[in-house]
Amino acid sequence: MVTVGTLWPYHATLMILGLALLTTGMLVARYRKARKGWLSLHKALGLVGATFVLLGLITAVYMVAVSSGRHFAAVPHTYLGTLALLFLGITPLLGYAQFHVTANRSKLRAIHRWSGRITLFLIALTLLTGLSLVGLL
Ligand code: HEM
Ligand code: HEM
Repeated sequence: MVTVGTLWPYHATLMILGLALLTTGMLVARYRKARKGWLSLHKALGLVGATFVLLGLITAVYMVAVSSGRHFAAVPHTYLGTLALLFLGITPLLGYAQFHVTANRSKLRAIHRWSGRITLFLIALTLLTGLSLVGLL
């Protein structure tokens, strides 16, 4: 039978891969700015990482739907996860915005940096609460 017990490893794997890609993207922006093409790599890692997290979310919703059917029951995991996803949506938009807005560009850039760091922190925290949900922590 398909349940949370059989599906959570797929959800977790997609989330861990997503976080790994997003973290690599952040490290590229932080330590590889001197190299040509760093921005393309940063964008690509951010977008592919976000796609993995989105697939992880779809897996989570499906997993709960075919099990208890009670969404948002696992607290604080689901609420932290939703907040993390919200930041994950805003961060790339801020990333693109800094190239399309001329006023306050440096402020926008600083906000993007912090939004990105908060996103990674929230995903990592959600991950820990997820591991605790399945009894691994
Ligand atoms: C090792 C990592 C993770 C594990 C082991 C894990 C585990 C779980 C489990 C067992 C559930 C089902 C809870 C239930 O029965 O209601 C769940 C749901 C959920 N997880 Fe995770 N999770 C992980 C990472 C993440 C991350 C990083 C996010 C978001 C960024 C996330 C977002 C969600 C959401 C939104 C749900 C709720 C889906 C719904 O209620 O429809 N999870 N997770
Ligand atoms: C989910 C996707 C993304 C995440 C999580 C993310 C996160 C970050 C983080 C954490 C930093 C700061 C690194 C540091 O110096 O500590 C940064 C820098 C930067 N990001 Fe992103 N980013 C994402 C997508 C994008 C996109 C799509 C663009 C542009 C189209 C972009 C453009 C930039 C630029 C130009 C910087 C350098 C800012 C500076 O230090 O002057 N980012 N990003």
